[in-house]
Amino acid sequence: MTKVWAHRGASADAPENTLPAFELALEQGADGFELDVQLTRDDEVVVIHDETLERCTDGHGWVADHSLDDLRKLDASAGRDGFGGTRIPTLGDVFGLVQGTEAVINVELKNSKMAYKGLEERVLAVIAEYEMTHRVVLSSFNHDSLRYLRSLTGGVRLGALYDQPLWKPWAYARRLGVHALHPSLSSARRRVVRHAHDEGLDVNVWTVNEASDIMRMVEINADAVVTNHPALAREVIG
Ligand code: G3P
Ligand code: MG
Repeated sequence: MTKVWAHRGASADAPENTLPAFELALEQGADGFELDVQLTRDDEVVVIHDETLERCTDGHGWVADHSLDDLRKLDASAGRDGFGGTRIPTLGDVFGLVQGTEAVINVELKNSKMAYKGLEERVLAVIAEYEMTHRVVLSSFNHDSLRYLRSLTGGVRLGALYDQPLWKPWAYARRLGVHALHPSLSSARRRVVRHAHDEGLDVNVWTVNEASDIMRMVEINADAVVTNHPALAREVIG
């Protein structure tokens, strides 16, 4: 059965990458959720999509130039009514929220534009602290970082993000040492899923928002759809 992972939480209905969005995703029946992480000036792992603060908060400048204390003062409601005072969470805050649930958390390391030194180690430390090793999938578009993660951990599952059709991505993923392919919707193919499964790899597809596309991903046997609309996906998949 294809799993439903909420993209940045239930981001169609709540401010993306915030605790209300993650809570709502679980209420809407998601099996888990995807989130994005960046590193603060004082090496804390925070959950926010952009390298800069303007789009999602009332702050300015680079995440990397601010301390966690500074960032905690910002409003992350992104102008959405009813969510005033919502804060940027740390990765630990999110893991705290899902203690006592069975939610799977896909942590996307946003380290393609910014070469955050030590992000991999810090993420693994938070995973260990909250005993989330077996409920997390770490993904990135930065495959050097995935290879580095592979050298640091045997236990945490890894997924290779890509957004263009690749030649034999299942063979590449095996060489890279990851456990899953994370293709964009337009790069997800029945043949890729079949070969990936033969190699023991999962295929988790993003971002799948239309009912017809969700159905198509179920038909090609994708392991998870990452969606802004977890309630819709739950309804379609059952
Ligand atoms: O992890 C899938 C997806 O989130 C990748 O793109 O920009 O939404 O983080 P983006
Ligand atoms: Mg993402």
